[in-house]
Amino acid sequence: MTPLTLDVTSVSQIQTAANEIVSVIEKHLAVNFLGPLRMTQAFLPLLKRSKGSIINNLSLVGLAALPVIPSYSISKAAAFNMTQSLRALLAADGVTVHSVVLGPIDTDMNRGFNIPKASTESAARGIFDGLEKGEEDIFPDPVSQSIAEAWRAGAAKALEQQFKAFVPERTASAA
Ligand SMILES: NC(=O)c1ccc[n+]([C@@H]2O[C@H](COP(=O)([O-])OP(=O)(O)OC[C@H]3O[C@@H](n4cnc5c(N)ncnc54)[C@H](OP(=O)(O)O)[C@@H]3O)[C@@H](O)[C@H]2O)c1
Repeated sequence: MTPLTLDVTSVSQIQTAANEIVSVIEKHLAVNFLGPLRMTQAFLPLLKRSKGSIINNLSLVGLAALPVIPSYSISKAAAFNMTQSLRALLAADGVTVHSVVLGPIDTDMNRGFNIPKASTESAARGIFDGLEKGEEDIFPDPVSQSIAEAWRAGAAKALEQQFKAFVPERTASAA
C-alpha cells in the first residue's frame, strides 16, 4: 500500500500522485524482475561452461497476489514466470534453474509485520537442502512447506511440464 497525501482539487497534485504509484511498480519490477534477468544474461556464458545453477529467491506472493502489496506481488510473479522459462530453455545446457518460494522470514523487509517468521538460518538451510535434493521449486520454511506438496501435484505445475515439451530439442550451445 502506498499512502498518498494530496489536495484532490489540484490537477497537478493528482498527476504527481499517479506518477508516484507508477514509479513504485517500476521500482519493484526493476529490482525483482529485470535485475535477475540481466544478471542471468550477463552470467549465462559462465553458467553454461560450469553447468551451474540459477537460484531465484521468489515468494508465496508470486504464486497468489498479496493484495496489500500488489506491486511487489506482480514483480515476484513475473520473476517466477521467467524462472519457469529459463528452466526449460537452459536444460539442454546443463544449467538448472530453481525457484525458492519463500514464506515470511525474519529480515528487515518485514520487520514491521507481527506474524510468525522463520529464521534466516533455517531458511538458508532449507534452500541448500532443496538444492541438494534437486528440487525445481524449493519451499524452505514452514509456511511455504505447507503448500509444497499441493503445488507439486497441482494444475500449474502440470501445465509447466506440458509447456516444456514445446521447447525444440537441441544439444548444448557454446555461449
Ligand atoms: N523476508 C521475507 O519474508 C521474504 C519473503 C519472501 C521473499 N523474500 C525475498 O527474499 C529476498 C531477500 O529479502 P530479505 O528479506 O533479505 O530483504 P531485506 O532484509 O530487505 O534485504 C534486501 C536485500 O536486497 C538488497 N538490495 C535491494 N535493492 C538492491 C539492488 N538494486 N541491487 C542489489 N541488491 C539490492 C539490499 O541491499 P542493501 O541493504 O545494500 O540495500 C538487501 O541486502 C528478496 O528477493 C525478497 O523478495 C523475502
